[in-house]
Formats: sequence, structure tokens, C-alpha cells
Amino acid sequence: MRIDVLNGVNLGMLGKRDPATYGDQSLQDLETQVYAWALQLDLQVRCRQTDHEGEFVGFLHQALGSADGLVLNPGAWTHYSWAIHDALEPFGGPFVEVHLSNVDEREDWRRFSVLHGLGGLRVVGKGFDGYREALQLLNERRPE
Ligand code: DQA
Repeated sequence: MRIDVLNGVNLGMLGKRDPATYGDQSLQDLETQVYAWALQLDLQVRCRQTDHEGEFVGFLHQALGSADGLVLNPGAWTHYSWAIHDALEPFGGPFVEVHLSNVDEREDWRRFSVLHGLGGLRVVGKGFDGYREALQLLNERRPE
């Protein structure tokens, strides 16, 4: 099963950015863990990150037909980017929205997600482990 793990804006700053909220490990540390978990679950994972919204939209377009499932953390775009909503809509496969922090218990504006209503699953507030949970959830939805 092919999974794209897509991290958006400012996720490249992990380890340097608000460690009390996001931890002290880097994006590279996260991706190393994701690849190790994927190996355990026999998943074929590709990790990508960008700070450019149009590039993120491009990742979503490319996932159509090349990935069987998605793990998405669009960062702040989650809360306002209808372009990301629209780019994800045609995907059709299973996806999991992940947030390292518990966005439901922070500022009000973080509670809203443009991905709501697209039929995905959601894991919030579990740090890096949230990505492992997302991979497990997708593994349970393997295509026949
Ligand atoms: C985040 C939560 C967002 O509100 C924030 O803008 C981020 C990171 C998280 O993983 O907790 O950049 O997506």
C-alpha cells in the first residue's frame, strides 16, 4: 500500500519552533520514524514537506493515482486554505489529518479544519506518535 505523508507550512521548523508545543525533534527525525514504522507495517511511504501552498496542492494532485492513502498535516493552511480542500476532494482514497498539538484545545481559530467533511480520519495532540497511529489506521483500510 502506497502512502504519501505530506507536511505543510512551518513543519520544516520542527525542533526550532515552540518546542513546548511541538517538541524538540526535527522534521528529519519525524520522517526517519515514519519510514521505520512504515517498514514494520509493510507500507510504501513517501514523505514530503513544503512551505509553498501551490506546491502542496501539487503534491495532492500527484497523489491521485499514485498513492493509496494519505497522511496530511497542512499546518496553518488547515484552518483557511480552501485550495487544499479542493485539491484533496478528488483524491477519493482514505486519508488521515494529523496535528502534533491538540488543535481542539488551543486558540479558537485552530479548531476549524477545511478538511472537515471530506470523509477523512483525524488524529490530534499525540505528537510524532500521531503519525504512527495514522499509518496504522490506513493499514487497516488496505485496498483488496
Ligand atoms: C499544527 C497545528 C496548526 O494549528 C499549526 O498552524 C501548525 C502545526 C500541528 O501539527 O499541531 O503549524 O498543524
